[in-house]
Amino acid sequence: MANFLIRAIQKRDKTEDFDCGHQALNAFLKKTASQYHKKGYARIRVMVDKNDTVFAYNTLSSAQIVSAELSNVVVRQLPRHPMPVLLIGRLAVCRSQQGKGFGEEMLMDALKRSVETADTIGVFGVVVDPISNAAERFYARYGFQVCKNTPKRMFISVKTLKQLF
Ligand SMILES: CC(C)(COP(=O)(O)OP(=O)(O)OC[C@H]1O[C@@H](n2cnc3c(N)ncnc32)[C@H](O)[C@@H]1OP(=O)(O)O)[C@@H](O)C(=O)NCCC(=O)NCCS
Repeated sequence: MANFLIRAIQKRDKTEDFDCGHQALNAFLKKTASQYHKKGYARIRVMVDKNDTVFAYNTLSSAQIVSAELSNVVVRQLPRHPMPVLLIGRLAVCRSQQGKGFGEEMLMDALKRSVETADTIGVFGVVVDPISNAAERFYARYGFQVCKNTPKRMFISVKTLKQLF
């Protein structure tokens, strides 16, 4: 990690060669991410080297989850209205750097910010929509659980995260 820095995305960042193995995640970083960040649709953080070449990124935004989705994950009764959560919409590491702990670094970066946000505004948990079975296994390692009625959505509570950070 010594040669890399995690910070908010900037327009000058070099993304041309980024390839995480998923075209949709590559295209988002190259074409859309900077505008999304600027307009506040999501906060996007990148892992860059000293030349501002991007090797990993994550996105964080607000979202809602209905309590029925959580019936297999959360034991106690929840309000009937949608619950406020944060969404890690995208997280990717370029193929040349995978398997070196950077995916975990980028996940922890988003989760730490989620816990900090939950001190200021109501946030019940964090959700992710894994892009593949491999991504689902990656998130499961950190305690994310598959939501009942939305199989491609996973959840972890802020209460659980507070034990981590
Ligand atoms: C999934 C992804 C983010 C993981 O990043 P990474 O840098 O390769 O992962 P790390 O090196 O940080 O691995 C952290 C831990 O997760 C494990 N892990 C990584 N990928 C895994 C997978 N697909 N399934 C199960 N475990 C996995 C590692 O073995 C490691 O555990 P260890 O420390 O006990 O060995 C990366 O492979 C990627 O960008 N994939 C393509 C895009 C994608 O699937 N994004 C996911 C969100 S949509």
